[in-house]
Amino acid sequence: MRVVLLGPPGAGKGTQAVHISRAFEVPRIATGDIFRENVRNETALGKEAKAYMDLGDLVPDDVVIGMVTDRLSQDDAQKGFLLDGFPRTVPQAVTLEDFLASESRPLDVVLRFNVPESEVVRRIVNRRVCPKDGSVYHLEFAPPRKEGLCDECGTPLVHRKDDTQEVVLHRLQEYHEKTERLEYFYWERGLLRDVESIGPVEEVTRRTLTLLDDVEGFSDPNGGEDAA
Ligand code: AP5
Repeated sequence: MRVVLLGPPGAGKGTQAVHISRAFEVPRIATGDIFRENVRNETALGKEAKAYMDLGDLVPDDVVIGMVTDRLSQDDAQKGFLLDGFPRTVPQAVTLEDFLASESRPLDVVLRFNVPESEVVRRIVNRRVCPKDGSVYHLEFAPPRKEGLCDECGTPLVHRKDDTQEVVLHRLQEYHEKTERLEYFYWERGLLRDVESIGPVEEVTRRTLTLLDDVEGFSDPNGGEDAA
């Protein structure tokens, strides 16, 4: 199973990625999370990415591409992967396509998560995330059972620095200018499928897993149990 998740900030990619990755037992490769981990560890990559991320700009392609192809070459990604947040530009998409073609393991499907723009800011400013396992919460729509702590591992939740109204509006603009054109790129290749990402999280998960079950050759080993 080789899947790309596409959609604007706040569309629910990260939220659903956690469920899909568990249900299909494939690693979730989230470029935003990889950058944030590097920022926390103050690596050279983190220092370079931080300035872009804080402003809501995309990190330059040459920095992102090598990082992702390295990750895709690791053992656990050989049986499949879920790309969350990559590709974000046409050069990233072309490089990914060439890289996967050279290894005879092309993408199976690209899921586009749709959400009304009016909902995006409301979702983002009240988001809290687990820096350890990537679980995503919302203070109103999906609060953790114990205030401030991840349900899965008990790690204190964090508020992302780029989750302010001002930065989110800029991230949306970046999406429209640079990432939206990938919708056509993948539609042209017959890979694009739509997921309506509105309604309760569990309902969106069910919709997503059903759609993936319909993609030829996929079968959720847990029979959709993760959505319950
Ligand atoms: P990244 O971390 O990838 O952020 P993003 O794409 O902007 O996406 P988000 O994480 O904001 O949204 P999401 O769709 O995952 O929503 P979520 O599930 O969390 O990138 C951050 C930065 O890193 C970029 O700006 C850039 O600088 C850099 N970067 C990363 N990749 C790059 C690349 N390839 N190239 C260049 N630069 C790159 O949900 C949001 C909220 O909504 C949560 O609170 C959640 O609980 C809630 N929610 C989810 N579903 C529902 C629902 N159905 N109903 C109600 N609430 C819901």
